[in-house]
Amino acid sequence: MKGLFISFEGIDGCGKSTQIDILSKHFTKKKKPFVKTEEPGGTKGSNEIRKILLKENNFKWSVETETLLFMAARNDHVEKVIKPAIKENKIVICDRFMDSTLVYQGMRSSKAKTLSLSLFKLIAINPDITFLIDMDPEIALNRALSRQTDEDRFENYGINFQYKLRKNFLDIANKHTERIKIINGDQNPETIASQIIENINELIQ
Ligand code: TYD
Repeated sequence: MKGLFISFEGIDGCGKSTQIDILSKHFTKKKKPFVKTEEPGGTKGSNEIRKILLKENNFKWSVETETLLFMAARNDHVEKVIKPAIKENKIVICDRFMDSTLVYQGMRSSKAKTLSLSLFKLIAINPDITFLIDMDPEIALNRALSRQTDEDRFENYGINFQYKLRKNFLDIANKHTERIKIINGDQNPETIASQIIENINELIQ
């Protein structure tokens, strides 16, 4: 089997983590070697960047500076985790990737979007398939805020921000229909999981 790079995207609280857990159990059962990872994060250095990006802070960075930090975290993660795993023919399941930057940062600044796209050329790897878990922002935000972590910077931007995120994710998905599969997140987790597995089976059989 050749390596396969799968990413999951969606607004905060859309149910990605549940789906990633179900998919990981599926691959374990099928004895498929896989790596489960996340962004920002996945390496020691990227996790340090994650901490300063996602906790409420007083740095008052511009969106462009924030973008450079997300891209730095991504570069370390791709170099040390994603590319080596793909080279070893493993499946990579990644919680968020470049589409999150295009949405969370790109929708707030066209300069940030251009910046991220030019840096992304150097990173030079794209998921083979991306699942966008599409959800009603009201339900998703309530779920995200009930988690009680200290990483809720973007959740704290409010419901209108979540509506804008959803629209931007859908716009990107509609531009890249060959890669991004829109999954209705408003169904029970098992139904969602079987739709995801069906799509993956088409790629790995
Ligand atoms: P995540 O851990 O997936 O949070 P959640 O489980 O609540 O969805 O993502 C962390 C946050 O980082 C999330 O609010 C989205 C944000 N983010 C960006 O703003 N830009 C990026 O490039 C990435 C990868 C994440």
